[in-house]
Amino acid sequence: MDRGELLYEGKAKQVYRTPDPDRLIQHFKDDATAFNAQKRGTIVSKGIVNNRISEVLFGVLERAGVATHFVERLSERDMLVRACQIVKIEVVVRNVIAGSLATRLGRPEGEALPEPILEHYLKDDALGDPLLNDWHIRFLQLATPDELAAINATALRVNAVLRPYLDARQIVLVDFKLEFGRHHGQLLVADEICPDTCRLWDKTTGHKLDKDRFRRDLGAVEEAYQEAARRICGVAA
Ligand code: C5P
Repeated sequence: MDRGELLYEGKAKQVYRTPDPDRLIQHFKDDATAFNAQKRGTIVSKGIVNNRISEVLFGVLERAGVATHFVERLSERDMLVRACQIVKIEVVVRNVIAGSLATRLGRPEGEALPEPILEHYLKDDALGDPLLNDWHIRFLQLATPDELAAINATALRVNAVLRPYLDARQIVLVDFKLEFGRHHGQLLVADEICPDTCRLWDKTTGHKLDKDRFRRDLGAVEEAYQEAARRICGVAA
């Protein structure tokens, strides 16, 4: 499938039209940003890793009955997806306290949660993706009550599917962010699921295999992405 007009360019991806109005191409870049683009850099081969890992994890979800926008990986950096209207809510699921939750609640990073915590953020870079509650979502009409219920149930289901899959690969799924899209009246898990959007810790050592290595200047960033690819895809990207 050929790339057509560039529809959208984000921090880590480009989205192109295709000859089929129902299909888009996501192109994965090596550009990395953090802290709402205040920190910028490049992670060599990140786009290749994120495309491969997303392919595998979307496949795991589809086989478990979770509808996603994934169609097929076309090349190292290109993925064919179903065209969606993206819901302007970033959904975060957490199993272990880390990142902004540690800061917000004043709790130590690494504390296991007795049950997953689900959060919603407004997908709006200019506002710094603020935290939302259900009343904000209703007021802003970001999703209908039925859509929100489906989004929440699906996000928890994604967690229930991916956690054991990653655990078997010696990875703790600490937390992750999902996006959803509307496609002919159906809600699909969209965007990407990869070390940019998940916290992935080695089960034994706690070694970070995700974007926190870039955000926090921990070093060995490329190696961590490659290791995540090796464990999740069975091969280095
Ligand atoms: O920063 P915070 O702790 O809220 O992040 C929670 C999870 O959501 C992390 O896995 C992070 O990688 C992901 N995230 C994301 N995109 C954002 C914000 C957070 O993928 N804009």
